Amino acid sequence: MGTPYDRPVRVERRAVGERESRAANGPDWDRYADEYQATHGSYLGDAGFLWGPEGLTEDEAGILGNVNGKDVLEVGSGAGQCSRWVRNHGGRGIGVDLSMRQLQHSRRIDDETGIAVPSVLGTATALPFAADTFDVVFCSFGALQFVADIGDAVAETARVLRPGGRFAFSVTHPTRWMFPDDPGPDGLTASQSYWDRTPYVEVEDRTGAVAYVEHHRTLGDWVALLAGHGFRITDLLEPEWPEGHDRVWGGWSQTRGRLTPGTALFGADWQPRPQPR
Ligand SMILES: C[S@@+](CC[C@H](N)C(=O)[O-])C[C@H]1O[C@@H](n2cnc3c(N)ncnc32)[C@H](O)[C@@H]1O
Repeated sequence: MGTPYDRPVRVERRAVGERESRAANGPDWDRYADEYQATHGSYLGDAGFLWGPEGLTEDEAGILGNVNGKDVLEVGSGAGQCSRWVRNHGGRGIGVDLSMRQLQHSRRIDDETGIAVPSVLGTATALPFAADTFDVVFCSFGALQFVADIGDAVAETARVLRPGGRFAFSVTHPTRWMFPDDPGPDGLTASQSYWDRTPYVEVEDRTGAVAYVEHHRTLGDWVALLAGHGFRITDLLEPEWPEGHDRVWGGWSQTRGRLTPGTALFGADWQPRPQPR
């Protein structure tokens, strides 16, 4: 998500596991973080809560419910903008992110705003928190589409949530997988199968090393994943492109947004399964 910094890479579709995805994406976000924050920081807002490039805010969506007095974890928290919004609304917002450089930006904005988001380095597939710690876990385009072992990430979310907890996350809308990641008209012609889950991989020209990975799940995959881990899906929002909104963000644009959804936003409640006697 975003306009990647310049580096000589070639794009491939091939199987990549969790270890390789993480080894690529952590350093990639470290390298990209300065440019990402310089390009998108003012749009995100230091204590703003956007669910995606369409500009849908949590104030509008209300998908987390009232966070006042709640323990709230943001997975893939980046510079902590959303968690600062949580803190401004009375929640105890905490962040976890794979990229140290993103967390350094979070600390910088903490200092600038005086709203500090305690944040730790870690991964969505092995959350560094005890069981039953949070009332809400959320992820705004953070982490989930970057992990290979998505079942582990959803299981970890269930583990750290208290019974009755809430999980909400936004990802690139699964139907976008069919189209080239191009904000112009070329991004409107389907060129690959919606059902092909083979990851999108950028490989460094010079070394052949995997430099960046994104993983695809269909809408049905997400439903099965959530239901299979005890979540009850309550919402699936597909934000429409607002009239007059002309910001281009990576492959997101007015040209495409008027015709196809770019973001899927899920909301779900979690209850532990009754244990067999
Ligand atoms: C598109 S940014 C979203 C961050 C923030 N919500 C925003 O809108 O700027 C994605 C974030 O996910 C983080 N990330 C990627 N893979 C991750 C993983 N396996 N576990 C935790 N965070 C991860 C990246 O480091 C990055 O900060």
